Amino acid sequence: HRKYEAFKPIRKTNRRWPDSVIEKAPVWCAVDLRDGNQALVKPMNVAQKQRLFDLLVKLGFKEIEIGFPAASQPDFDFCRKLIDENRIPDDVKIQVLTQARPELIERTYEALKGAKQAIVHVYNSTSTVQREQVFGLDRDGIRDIAINGAELVRDLAAKHPETQWTFQYSPESFTGTELDFAVDVIDAVTEVWRPDQGQPVIINLPATVEMATPNVFADQIEWVCDNIQRREHISISLHTHNDRGCAVAAAELGVMAGADRIEGTLMGNGERTGNMDLVTMAMNLYSQGIDPNLDLSGMAEITEVVEACTEISTHPRHPYAGELVFTAFSGSHQDAIRKCLARREEGDVWNVAYLPIDPSDVGRRYEEVVRINSQSGKGGVAYVLERDYDITLPRWLQIEFSKVVQREAESNGGEIDSLTIHRLFEDQYLKV
Ligand code: KIV
Ligand code: ZN
Repeated sequence: HRKYEAFKPIRKTNRRWPDSVIEKAPVWCAVDLRDGNQALVKPMNVAQKQRLFDLLVKLGFKEIEIGFPAASQPDFDFCRKLIDENRIPDDVKIQVLTQARPELIERTYEALKGAKQAIVHVYNSTSTVQREQVFGLDRDGIRDIAINGAELVRDLAAKHPETQWTFQYSPESFTGTELDFAVDVIDAVTEVWRPDQGQPVIINLPATVEMATPNVFADQIEWVCDNIQRREHISISLHTHNDRGCAVAAAELGVMAGADRIEGTLMGNGERTGNMDLVTMAMNLYSQGIDPNLDLSGMAEITEVVEACTEISTHPRHPYAGELVFTAFSGSHQDAIRKCLARREEGDVWNVAYLPIDPSDVGRRYEEVVRINSQSGKGGVAYVLERDYDITLPRWLQIEFSKVVQREAESNGGEIDSLTIHRLFEDQYLKV
């Protein structure tokens, strides 16, 4: 990531940048196999789950939510398979979700029996709409559900000391919850779990539904961080959804506001408009000179596996991963890219117009950067001939020949490949 070091001083000294910046990557938790899976038309089969789990491990995720075993037999079986077949690397924690209901918590511990380490993620809904319209309970009733759940989680863990337990609590629908009440419930839960006495605890604040602009969400996170008890002993996690299209922005601002950990999914699969896209957020950090602690250099493999497992294709304009995101068709963009690439020397900081990162950092080829259609100009055509055929055109010929290519592209209506460009060039100038 040395290439990006140059961004750092700019960011620190130039006041166009905000005071608050992300200084290091958060702890990541991938919830593809739970939130992602529960939103699919066709939930993943065991082979697909295993393939996605293995990919997540390979990319460097150390915390992976693998399902809701108490609510789904396939999730239970998958959890057992991972444990029984010893498929979880020692430095990876599996996480499982459960509602704060006694029978579900008990079943959750059955699913996790024998795991070396695990995160038990317990939740109940706290928002006004859920309290009033779904549960018909007041604040005390909702707080009691959380406390009773936390107590059972603690007591059952004590019966299985062979596992290293982390406890996680989510006030589900946090974004629709009054902040004083959210803090009240969180304090009640941590009073049971006592992170200050050594028990690892994660408090996860979900934008179950994204309801406001990212700065408002970040203010909520900051307020919780400032007002909860035992803050210094707790890992504050965020779990943003994308209802307003800002899940990544909300997570980023949430980290600036104090969060330590981020839950999300590869390419943002998840309920409704999806979860926070881990690929985008991690690569955003990377593009700012921050090591995301994930290896996303094989983007083609990532999209292939995600597509095969979710049966959802990747949008061609998906940040960092889509087929077209490093491609320029338009003449002025091509010209600028060509000039920047030509001046670049080995080891230079990446500083190429229109390309926020070096495409090769995610395993993309330079061949994809400049593609030709009727929007393209002399720079693009010259670049293709240079790159693929070692033919350097003088400027007057670039202008003249690009008109030939443009005419051909207009009549064909689409893209012109490099072979055709070369053939046109031969027809025009090399044949006697
Ligand atoms: O979106 C959400 O609130 C969830 C919780 C269960 C964490 O998925
Ligand atoms: Zn969710």
